[in-house]
Amino acid sequence: MSVWAVLAAAGSGERLGRVSADLFSAGAAGQSPAARPDLGDRPKAFAPLRGRPLLAESLERLDASGWVDSIVVVAPPGWEEPVILLAEELGCGTVAAVVAGGATRAESVRLGVAEVGEDAAVVMVHDAARPLVTDEVIERLLGALGEGWDGAVPGLPVVDTVKRVEGAAVVETLARASLVAVQTPQAFVAGVFRSAVAGDTNATDCASLVEAAGGRVTVVPGDPRLLKVTTPEDLALVESWLEESEAPA
Ligand code: CTP
Ligand code: MG
Repeated sequence: MSVWAVLAAAGSGERLGRVSADLFSAGAAGQSPAARPDLGDRPKAFAPLRGRPLLAESLERLDASGWVDSIVVVAPPGWEEPVILLAEELGCGTVAAVVAGGATRAESVRLGVAEVGEDAAVVMVHDAARPLVTDEVIERLLGALGEGWDGAVPGLPVVDTVKRVEGAAVVETLARASLVAVQTPQAFVAGVFRSAVAGDTNATDCASLVEAAGGRVTVVPGDPRLLKVTTPEDLALVESWLEESEAPA
């Protein structure tokens, strides 16, 4: 069973950049956002995490995973070369292809899946914005596929009460016990996923494509540390978790 990972890294990181610009102008009067030390106009995949591009963390972890045979990295358009160099620097031998992404995440995933080899039994899609991917989560996902599910996603219980609104008005309070917050990686039977991806390109997660195509998707326990880096605060939090895990006991 050959497992291919598609690592979606093509986003620009609007919120990471914009928020840090805001923080900067609030905190350091007189200096322009252009003087920001780190981010410049780098895409989020190249935002610095402990001195390395954010992408390095997930790429290295997927490459080191005994469960993953091959990786397709979907790079920010124009950043294919730096991604190839990074993969070489890290010695990531499982990187089979690097392709430029599209305007939306769904489009980027579609472009990445097109590079997945014919031998793939499983396609696993992961966001580079979630650096702390673990073998434990991957193992749970693949275990679920082994039980016969078409797809498996990591999920966490929702702690806040969630309401559906129309404009300013609350129209429904959802039963919290039946809700999960879903993360990546998400794993699918390759054939099912390939045909699902050919459909709608505006879905926010891959599983919804498979659900829409009639596939059966299950949820396995996720990991709070699979946090998606959206703001500079998220980046700092992930950095502190990494430092903690490397500190001598
Ligand atoms: N992504 C992608 N192609 C896009 C948009 C997003 O491959 N056109 C990827 C991102 O690189 C990220 C993941 O999808 O790993 C989740 O997206 P998000 O966290 O929203 O990242 P960005 O879109 O880069 O951030 P923002 O929405 O703040 O611009
Ligand atoms: Mg986005």
